[in-house]
Amino acid sequence: MSLVRNLHVLLAYETVIGFVIRMALAFSGSASLANKAVRILPHIIDTVLLGCGFALVFALDHSFGESWLTVKLLALLAYIGFGVLTLRASRTPLRLLGAAGALLSVGYIFLVALSRNPLPF
Ligand code: HEM
Repeated sequence: MSLVRNLHVLLAYETVIGFVIRMALAFSGSASLANKAVRILPHIIDTVLLGCGFALVFALDHSFGESWLTVKLLALLAYIGFGVLTLRASRTPLRLLGAAGALLSVGYIFLVALSRNPLPF
């Protein structure tokens, strides 16, 4: 199971790196954002990341009733929503709101994951 855990953690860093790159492309108005690989690769990374997450829940005998897992999933929804806003918004203030929200959400996910505590501060 440590292989799945290591893959989950590796992809957790990958999703942030990928988001920061796409965010920079979005802010600079780069046409590369429409590139097929740039659009598809993040979906593959995120799908495997989630798949490993669900596998870990069952393999390590966790339950979705655990508060840290519940807030992790809620923060994940926020990360996705703010991420979509960053990449699709046409106005810079909305894009900035999306970028700040996405980075704060994913940072919170890391803190919760590492501490297994919904209030890791
Ligand atoms: C952007 C999304 C996610 C990020 C950034 C993320 C990040 C992480 C990190 C860094 C760890 C390692 C913690 C440690 O070393 O102690 C971890 C562990 C874990 N994650 Fe995630 N994760 C994400 C999504 C998910 C999802 C969606 C689930 C469940 C469906 C999940 C379930 C787990 C479980 C069960 C563990 C192992 C906890 C343990 O060792 O007991 N993760 N995650």
